[in-house]
Amino acid sequence: MELVLGIETSCDETAAALVTRAGDVVGDAVHSQIKLHAPYGGVVPELASRDHLRNVRPVVQEAFKRAGVRPEQIDGIAVTCRPGLTGALLVGVQTAQGLSLALNKPIVGVDHLVGHLLAVFLRFPGVASDAPPSYPFVALLASGGHTALYRVNGPQLEDVKELGATRDDAAGEAFDKVAKLLGLGYPGGPVIDRLAKEGNPDTIDLPWPMRRRDSLEFSFSGLKSNMLRWVKDHGLPGDDQTLRDLCAAFQRRVVDTLIAKALVAAENEGIRTLVLAGGVAANRELRTRSAEQAAPLGIRVVVPPFKACTDNAAMIAYAGFSRLARGENDSGKLGTSPHSALPQSTRKGRGRRAEPARP
Ligand code: KG4
Ligand code: ZN
Repeated sequence: MELVLGIETSCDETAAALVTRAGDVVGDAVHSQIKLHAPYGGVVPELASRDHLRNVRPVVQEAFKRAGVRPEQIDGIAVTCRPGLTGALLVGVQTAQGLSLALNKPIVGVDHLVGHLLAVFLRFPGVASDAPPSYPFVALLASGGHTALYRVNGPQLEDVKELGATRDDAAGEAFDKVAKLLGLGYPGGPVIDRLAKEGNPDTIDLPWPMRRRDSLEFSFSGLKSNMLRWVKDHGLPGDDQTLRDLCAAFQRRVVDTLIAKALVAAENEGIRTLVLAGGVAANRELRTRSAEQAAPLGIRVVVPPFKACTDNAAMIAYAGFSRLARGENDSGKLGTSPHSALPQSTRKGRGRRAEPARP
């Protein structure tokens, strides 16, 4: 088991990648649907599925081309089967099953969240990477759909334990909603990141979201409401500097809350390695401030390369290795689910507790 093809279509990126057992990405291709969904300020599931269907074949072909590898040369296939938009997941799963049958190669379904947690092990040619962490580590996963802290004891789903999660919005979702409120377009993270860099986080007073030190749960909906109230009271920022300051104040609240809880989690677990994962891990302030705040505690922060933070198929290929290497094969029994298979410890909103873990 030396080379795995990964396929990812859970949300708004159609992606394929070829990855070695060591985590070297030998070829990858990502087709982003950002432009397609931008006019709506968020992902439209029906449009996403149709666009995956149009692009999945060229994207897989492009990954093989970039790797200079023929399909027969792979040893197995890993595909995101949960969590995600059902119509979107089905496109990737069916493509992967077709390839598995045609090439007579084993296939495994991967939980997208486990993919994000292992993205830190990926190495892209010509891109400097942090030395990989060793197990166990504590991970902060902050993306558009999920925000949670985990103890990661190994590469398998069973090795991952949730320590706390958001009760409402994910961190990336907060970035996206606030950007929409301020008329900054979609996705919000990168644009707020850029504007915040030129702003002063201390000129506008906003409350801190769920700062209680003893809780590892997050809540970002209150901060979002406060941003809405600020705009109602003051109107949309009339000048560029106020907009930058507002972005800086919002981002500082989110980033420092994420870091504070992640460091408490690491200390509680007696673990000296903190891994950042998910789209929000691409945030420059989160990357620099987490390292600064962790260093005095003797905690090392390890971040994935930028392009491994947001959705990609290399992390899915890498996450599939351990099961493929054990000879497991989901051929003929691969289903999809909108929910992660990771057991959840935090009750979100007033809804029911998430489904128990399933194989
Ligand atoms: O991991 P990802 O690509 O997709 C999900 O699995 O959700 O994460 C996308 C999220 C979006 O909410 C986006 O606004 C956010 O990650 N994001 C960022 C940055 N880049 C992407 N948030 C803050 N700063 C960034 N630089
Ligand atoms: Zn993701």
